[in-house]
Amino acid sequence: MPYATEENLTDLALKQWEACHSPRLRQIMQSLVKHLHGFARDVDLKQDEWLMAVDWLARTGKLSSEKRQEFILLSDVLGISMLVDAMNHRFPEGATPSTVIGPFHIDDSPELPMGANVAEGLAGEPCFLVGSVRDMDGKPIEGAKLDIWQADADGLYESQLGAEEPTLRAVFHTGADGKYVIRTIAPPGYSIPMDGTVGDLLRGTDISHFRPAHIHFFISAPGYETLITHLFKKGAKYIDSDVVFGVKDKLIVEFKKQPAGKTPTGQISSEPFLVVTYDFVLSKSAAQKNGELALSEAGGASRGKL
Ligand code: BEZ
Ligand code: FE
Repeated sequence: MPYATEENLTDLALKQWEACHSPRLRQIMQSLVKHLHGFARDVDLKQDEWLMAVDWLARTGKLSSEKRQEFILLSDVLGISMLVDAMNHRFPEGATPSTVIGPFHIDDSPELPMGANVAEGLAGEPCFLVGSVRDMDGKPIEGAKLDIWQADADGLYESQLGAEEPTLRAVFHTGADGKYVIRTIAPPGYSIPMDGTVGDLLRGTDISHFRPAHIHFFISAPGYETLITHLFKKGAKYIDSDVVFGVKDKLIVEFKKQPAGKTPTGQISSEPFLVVTYDFVLSKSAAQKNGELALSEAGGASRGKL
């Protein structure tokens, strides 16, 4: 191997990664080396700038835990989360689009019956989520799992509140009619966490660090593509400047104000409330489509034999 020079270093590093056992990891690492070297050359990177960046990344790692995902936040504000999401969820026209999962999803939320209040005991404007989970032909999907989570009336998530109990998150399952009805409170727009390394970075810019009001949904059903998405409040502040690029036209919904009276869960509210109506449309998973194709081909073949 020739000794390194400024000119031949990129080629040497690329060649070194030829020795990677996995062809896919080799492809990824060689591309990363190529682009990182290109980046360093492009900006004429100074030694102290690189050491500062390494220290910043180390601090970002130390801040990350099960409850706080500073690296996901970095990926979000760089737009790479939404790019990877878009490339991996090219759903057919008519299916509900996906968006960023964000850093605040917590696994194993409590299962609640349809109609339950996920904001029990919390202050805020009452809000009812009403609709269904359907397939591309409009058929209701039975047994779809809706995992929902959101911020409280001050724009804070459970992990930021340091809550001991699950807060503003729950799991629901649809029945044969595919319908859901959930009581909650209206979330406001909020700032992404600014007390970490990502906040330090953004403070040196004029980039808005806010997200428009939204509720998160993680919807899964056997045989269908899993859908991770939000419903955004129509007309909300920051709807045109979401710091993580998460807003899509088809995910903007009216949070319709209703006068005091009968609510979608059949109770009587003494105060006005909001109703959000939305039908989620899931596309069939590739495995399901392949299975159906194989079945129809087998059927055709056996019919051909008759
Ligand atoms: C969220 O919606 O919870 C979120 C997404 C990306 C970054 C920060 C927060
Ligand atoms: Fe959120």
